[in-house]
Amino acid sequence: MARKPFTSSTREIPAVSGVPQHIAIIMDGNGRWARKRFMPRVAGHGKGVESVRAVIRACMAKGVSHLTLFAFSSENWRRPADEVSFLMQLFMRSLQKEIDRLHENGIRFRVIGDLSRFEPGLVDMIRRAEELTACNDRLTLTIAANYGGRWDILQAVERMLAKNPERRSGFTEEDLNAELSLNYGPEPDLFIRTGGEQRISNFLLWQLAYSELYFTDTLWPDFDEKALDLAIASYRSRERRFGRTSEQLCESEKSAKQEEASRDSADHA
Ligand code: IPE
Ligand code: IPE
Ligand code: MG
Repeated sequence: MARKPFTSSTREIPAVSGVPQHIAIIMDGNGRWARKRFMPRVAGHGKGVESVRAVIRACMAKGVSHLTLFAFSSENWRRPADEVSFLMQLFMRSLQKEIDRLHENGIRFRVIGDLSRFEPGLVDMIRRAEELTACNDRLTLTIAANYGGRWDILQAVERMLAKNPERRSGFTEEDLNAELSLNYGPEPDLFIRTGGEQRISNFLLWQLAYSELYFTDTLWPDFDEKALDLAIASYRSRERRFGRTSEQLCESEKSAKQEEASRDSADHA
């Protein structure tokens, strides 16, 4: 049976709850964390892996269902070759070390991005990890590696056109959505960027249309459960209007509460 596609925030108003269903994070500030300690930049990347573990644990405890982490952008190839190669090795080593534990914890592991530039050994390992964890449903952990939002939209358009060679027009958001690399999850409710910069850096350009944006000066290696709590507290204080007015939002909340109350009293009758 085909899965029901996730609600598109521009086509329907998504259900909103106090716990973000999907959190997407730009893990930034590793290099500065290391430099502050007179260590080489790559030491910050190593330390950043501990924050990844802490955030995964915290998301599971809070009932977040999707966590997407930006690990390497399509523009990060511009960095010095030794840093790029350190990052690839770190990815491979971490995956090798953690995959069984991820599986035991009911985590579905996915990677999005253009894997064609990665070494075949790493691609193999990624595919095996995805297969192993495919049926898990406690938390979907997506790593964006050699990912770029523009690349994603372009590859989706190409696939959409290839599937419909006769068609010239009349495409819908759903047609494109189905070809995006994150087509198996809802749009992020909460976007977090650590490290003080306030930009999207070519992350999930399409999917962030109505995400709540949260920027913190905390450097990624210092980011922990407490820091995540602050981000979620900020998220809870936002009014997600999706184009409507505040008054409309109050009305729809009121009628939802009334509906719930009348359901409860019918249950107790
Ligand atoms: C983020 O930290 C990690 C990656 C981009 C892989 P940076 O390495 O960008 O750290 P800063 O921004 O230089 O401090
Ligand atoms: C964004 O961080 C990409 C990742 C965290 C993987 P960068 O540090 O590369 O972003 P810019 O270049 O400062 O925008
Ligand atoms: Mg950076």
